[in-house]
Parts: sequence; C-alpha cells; structure tokens
Amino acid sequence: MKLSVPGRATGAATLAIAALLTTSAMADAAPARVAAAPDISVANVKAHLTQLQSIATANGGNRAHGRTGYKASLDYVKAKLDAAGFTTTVQQFTSSGSTGYNLIADWPGGDTNQVVMSGSHLDSVTSGPGINDNGSGSAAVLEAALAVSRTQYAPTKHLRFAWWGAEELGMVGSRYYVNSLSTANRAKISGYLNFDMIGSPNPGYFVYDDDPAIEKTFKDYFTGLGVATEIETEGDGRSDHAYFKSAGIPVGGLFTGASTRKTAAQAAKWGGTSGQAFDRCYHSSCDTTANINDTALNRNSDALAYAVWELSE
Ligand code: TRP
Ligand code: ZN
Repeated sequence: MKLSVPGRATGAATLAIAALLTTSAMADAAPARVAAAPDISVANVKAHLTQLQSIATANGGNRAHGRTGYKASLDYVKAKLDAAGFTTTVQQFTSSGSTGYNLIADWPGGDTNQVVMSGSHLDSVTSGPGINDNGSGSAAVLEAALAVSRTQYAPTKHLRFAWWGAEELGMVGSRYYVNSLSTANRAKISGYLNFDMIGSPNPGYFVYDDDPAIEKTFKDYFTGLGVATEIETEGDGRSDHAYFKSAGIPVGGLFTGASTRKTAAQAAKWGGTSGQAFDRCYHSSCDTTANINDTALNRNSDALAYAVWELSE
C-alpha cells in the first residue's frame, strides 16, 4: 500500500520538468534511468501469512525445523517463485538429526559478479506458528520477489532471494549457505539484506547499523515517510545476517522488536504501548496472524522493495 512518495521519483519528475523548460543542453543532462521501486501490496503479504498460518495449523501448530510444517512452508514459497520465473534451488543440511532446507531463488539476468541478496528465516520455534517471527519477513521477501517478476525488473546487478532453515537453532541454515560459498562467490555478493520480525504488534522501527550505504538506503525511505527510526540493538547478530557479516559481506536489515519493552520515548514517537514488549507473543503459541501490526508490515515491506531496487540498479 502506498503511504507517500519517497525522494527519487519526485526528484526525477522535477528534473524532467526542468529539462522541458530549459535549453536542449540542459535536456541532454537529464538522468539516464530511474527505476522506481513498486509499492508492495500489504494485502498480498498478509495473504502469504494466512497461508503460513494454515500450514502451521495443519501441521501440529508450528513450522519448525525437522517438522512437517517447515517443509510445507518451503514448498508454498517455492511454488510461487517457480511460477513467477525464478530459478530455485533447495539446499539441504542436517541439524539436530533432522534434514533442514534453505530455499534460494535467483532472478535471471544482471551482473552475477554483483549480487544483491535478500533473505529471511522461514522456520518457526516449536511452540507456535511463527507468524511475526518470521512469517512476516518471509512473506515480505516473497512479495518483493514476485514484484520483481510482475514488473519484469531488469537491474544492472543480479538479484537473489533466500529463505533460511533452522535459524531458531542458531542460524544453522544461513551459516551452512555462507560456509558452502567459495571465496570467489562470497566476493560476488555486494550486499545481504535481512528481514526477521518486521510486523511486531507494538512496533518499533529499527534499522541495522552495519554497512553504512545499506543503512542509509533504509533510513532515506523512512525519512520520506516521516517515520523516525532507531538503530537495531536488541541482540545484534541474533539473526541470519551474522554469518554474512563475519564473512566480510556488507549487511543491513529491518526489525520491529521482540521481547524488549517499548520505552515512553519510543511510544511518543511511534505510538503503541510503553512498558509493553514490542512482541508479547515472541516465541509463543499466540504468534498468529492476529500478532501483526499492519502498518509496520506495510512500511517495512515497501522499504524492503525500495532497498532492493535502489541497491541493484
Ligand atoms: N532472530 C531472533 C529470533 O528469530 C529474533 C531477534 C532478536 C532479532 N533480536 C534480533 C532479529 C535482532 C533481528 C535483529 O528469535
Ligand atoms: Zn525467533
């Protein structure tokens, strides 16, 4: 859903008008190309969450590593990507005696020496369906990938999307992926963007403070919306970007908060309830489709798409 128009498109329109009003020399100096990121439909993101909830409900109430609900979640996401023209790969690993799976989706085209990668963990804990943690990131990354296909986006860089297994067991899937990359292939990843918990019911707007260029891209988007952000500090390194960062790959990401309580100052700028956790259902059976703040999910899904487009053109 569109909330407001951030910088680039407006700037380009202004430049285009300026070019029309001035000399041909000025017109020749007009910008070559601006690929505006699409507005991501929060209704589509929520439809994916409804499917992930149904999968959990049909599989003992969770989508955890080693349980049937995890593989069913992966099959759901993979089918959408295959139908949209992605090249998908399922990477298997073993953790705690069970087979785990990462799903990798490559969008054909772009310079494969410059890969912009976005990812989220698709597993839940065993105690609940994991809709905010991390259906939210998984559904938003899926919808951004589907938007790439719908718009037939042809960026300069190569786009790759990932859904990680066994994050809840210690970021096992993403560690396996990073460790399995050759040194040459690691060097080709220009950035990894991570989305873990982006629809918390009492949300904060947190941006990872890692690579400055990626951080700035996200902050610019929120500035355009008039929404204040803070640096993510609730257990830095507690998600799948950690092993990318250790391998020297620039990382960034978004987060709306887990079990930490919102302060009065945070409630003053973001609304919501001070003294209450950002997500009171964190790692609990109540992390259902009812445990999502639609505004936060919408803003973060749009910010995700904005960053994918901006960092890949
Ligand atoms: N990754 C954690 C989980 O899945 C949640 C979490 C805690 C987190 N702190 C974070 C995610 C900081 C991103 C950034 O349970
Ligand atoms: Zn979790």
